[in-house]
Amino acid sequence: MSDSNTDKMQTEDNSDRAKKNKKKQKKKDAWRPEGPKDPFAMLQTLSENKQQEIQKALHLFSLGSGLPKTMEEAMKYTYSFWETQPVPRLGDSITTHGPIVENVVSVRKEPYSLPQGFSWDTLDLSNPTMLKELCTLLNENYVEEDDNTIRLNFSLEYLQWALQPPNWLAQCHCAVRVDANKKLVGFIAAVPANIRIYEAEKRVVQVKFLCVHKKLRLKRMTPVLIRELTRRVNQQGVSLAVYTAGVVVPTPLSSCSYWHRPLNLRKLIEVSYPGLRLKVNLQRTLKLNRLPEVTKTPGLQPMTKDDVEGIYSLLQKNLCRFHLSPILTAQEVEHWLLPRENVIDTFVVKGHDGTLTDVVSFYNVASTVLNHTVHTGLREAHLLYIGCTATDPVDLVEDTLVLAKSKGFDIFCALDVMDNMYFLEKLKFSISDKSLHYYLYNWMCPNMRPDKVGLMLPN
Ligand SMILES: CC(C)(COP(=O)(O)OP(=O)(O)OC[C@H]1O[C@@H](n2cnc3c(N)ncnc32)[C@H](O)[C@@H]1OP(=O)(O)O)[C@@H](O)C(=O)NCCC(=O)NCCS
Repeated sequence: MSDSNTDKMQTEDNSDRAKKNKKKQKKKDAWRPEGPKDPFAMLQTLSENKQQEIQKALHLFSLGSGLPKTMEEAMKYTYSFWETQPVPRLGDSITTHGPIVENVVSVRKEPYSLPQGFSWDTLDLSNPTMLKELCTLLNENYVEEDDNTIRLNFSLEYLQWALQPPNWLAQCHCAVRVDANKKLVGFIAAVPANIRIYEAEKRVVQVKFLCVHKKLRLKRMTPVLIRELTRRVNQQGVSLAVYTAGVVVPTPLSSCSYWHRPLNLRKLIEVSYPGLRLKVNLQRTLKLNRLPEVTKTPGLQPMTKDDVEGIYSLLQKNLCRFHLSPILTAQEVEHWLLPRENVIDTFVVKGHDGTLTDVVSFYNVASTVLNHTVHTGLREAHLLYIGCTATDPVDLVEDTLVLAKSKGFDIFCALDVMDNMYFLEKLKFSISDKSLHYYLYNWMCPNMRPDKVGLMLPN
């Protein structure tokens, strides 16, 4: 072979190697901002206010990219990750009940790989520093209203309530950090629960708080987070999950709507609360929305620890009427319902003999109002569970509105699940354009109307 040929081959070898290295490097850098012109890097140099202004402008001029919000849009969309997962296909009409993948035989021992420069972590939420870090990640990056002016503002106490129910699993608080500075940039959690799906009673996890840092969006971190969480959940011998989302992915078990009832109408108008529509003029709407000053149900009082057993049996009887419902233990009733300031409120009705006849609960969703001269925060009360055996639900919920208003909430929100339609319109709730879709992972069953859903999954 001539020297020139050897040279040529070596040059080809070198350029092949260079190409391979380049490819390898590109793979490693998958989540890394690319060079000085990278928009994320440029954005990072700006102040938070400037970033918000840019986001707002982008939103105003955007043609609405992102995941489908309706079934119609979803039918035309290609889900490259979800198509690989044990979930029903969009458009299939399901008549059977059961797991999609029978018994998960061998669970992968090692975690899924992350691009170079990132590592998995397990957040120990009993550690105040880690809890605070999670709070910061979520408050800066979790769902914002579409026009980026209202952003969720979770408190430490709220996160402990939502993520540490009885038997919570530390390894299912799954996080991604940047190696260089240990910054938390991704999170997904699962909490254990028992649920009833039609006739089947199943041990599941409820998946919550999926969040990817804004600067690492659209880089496919979500599929890795979901796969790793699934692996960790499978290690616990659980192969089923339930979750909710505002977007449509394959395949909703039920699609529900949010209904809103203003409590502080003026403020909602001032902060341009999304989806608030005045059917008549302001004065008339204020009059229509006026609530009584005091509650009217005799025996209505805040829940105490002594009410756990009474609520447990009332809810147990009430919730098994639905196709999808939680199977709560007394310990879980105590966790989810016992009042905690600025987290969860529960009221019970007791007769003269002390018998507990009714219960109603709502949780606190706090938000930060961005770029407003007067208002900095907004408080939504979200209906959790209600169970009535003696009081008309319309009266009980009207009293609940009065109580929520007196506690400083600005708006009361409820889904059209369970028997809620019975009181929503009567109490001047109006339907919003926001949907919440319920999903099951690795379980096949016919889909259901919202009024057959008896499970609430506070985020
Ligand atoms: C939701 C979020 C994590 C998605 O991140 P992203 O950077 O846009 O998406 P990625 O590139 O990482 O991953 C895309 C894949 O994740 C899936 N995905 C995105 N959001 C999802 C969601 N909320 N639920 C289920 N799957 C979701 C997409 O369908 C896509 O898979 P596909 O190819 O099968 O369609 C991110 O937008 C975020 O943190 N948003 C704020 C918090 C939030 O809305 N959390 C979800 C609450 S339900």
